[in-house]
Amino acid sequence: MIDFKKAMTDTADAVDEVLDDLLQRMEGPENQLLEAMRYSALGGGKRVRPFLVVASADLFGVSRSRSLRAAAAIEMIHCYSLIHDDLPAMDDDKLRRGRPTVHIKFDEATAILAGDALLTKAFEVLASEATHSDARVRADLCLAYAKAAGDRGMVGGQMLDLVAQDHELDVPEITRLQRMKTGELISVSCEAGCILGKVSAETRTVLRGYAHDIGLAFQIADDLLDVEGTAEQVGKATGKDEAAGKATFVSLLGADRARKQANLLVEQAVNHLNIFDERAVLLQELARFIVNRRS
Ligand code: IPE
Ligand code: IPE
Ligand code: MG
Ligand code: MG
Ligand code: MG
Repeated sequence: MIDFKKAMTDTADAVDEVLDDLLQRMEGPENQLLEAMRYSALGGGKRVRPFLVVASADLFGVSRSRSLRAAAAIEMIHCYSLIHDDLPAMDDDKLRRGRPTVHIKFDEATAILAGDALLTKAFEVLASEATHSDARVRADLCLAYAKAAGDRGMVGGQMLDLVAQDHELDVPEITRLQRMKTGELISVSCEAGCILGKVSAETRTVLRGYAHDIGLAFQIADDLLDVEGTAEQVGKATGKDEAAGKATFVSLLGADRARKQANLLVEQAVNHLNIFDERAVLLQELARFIVNRRS
């Protein structure tokens, strides 16, 4: 029997080691930047995106030394997005992963720079030969990550999220917002395994289908925790979405229907992976974890 919890912890530990190595402290006063980057990137978190990279790469026999670098890169981009998301100009949050946010622990300017540097570092890691000996693979990874993180992906979604405050959105509009804001980084995490493994377009489409469904389910679960969780439990302030007039699936459908929708998406996601038989059990378990998590 596969021990999902252990697999998650093991991957988190392994990616922490790689992050620790990639984010080396430096001499001089500019080390404050590295301290802030390390504070964000090594400060806990569920490590869902790195897990997706490693588990999907494992499906295709990719070596861990490669997949863990792609995993560290996606976590750096995710951490940058969280640092900037928490800034006063955005969600204005003081608690993240059970600790003060980066701009509270350091200052706003350092937080902005730490985010900038984590984003840039991610591409340095992807483009480096240690990630893959084939330059085409490295270029494909950079392209996919850039698309997922940028204006048509996470950053575009964050813009929609801000513009949508105090606007009524319908289900298709919220779906698009969440897909960009959260779904794209989750999708590219699964695609990284495909790119590293040089798999066929058909196989990549299967993983994309899975990622699409868990991405939406993931943000619905986050929105439910914002309504139903406590700060102690989830490690960040709750009740913020309603206070800020944020459009979410929960605000539109209500908690019960949103939860049903998330569960449906997870079942759909699990079914996408049936073609891999038991080889994809970890990814199937991760889909279930996404809606059952309490933080
Ligand atoms: C939080 O992501 C931000 C969203 C996209 C909803 P996670 O819930 O993955 O946060 P960590 O990494 O575990 O802290
Ligand atoms: C942010 O979504 C998603 C990002 C791109 C960082 P939220 O604003 O809902 O994330 P939390 O609730 O602060 O983690
Ligand atoms: Mg936000
Ligand atoms: Mg936020
Ligand atoms: Mg949230």
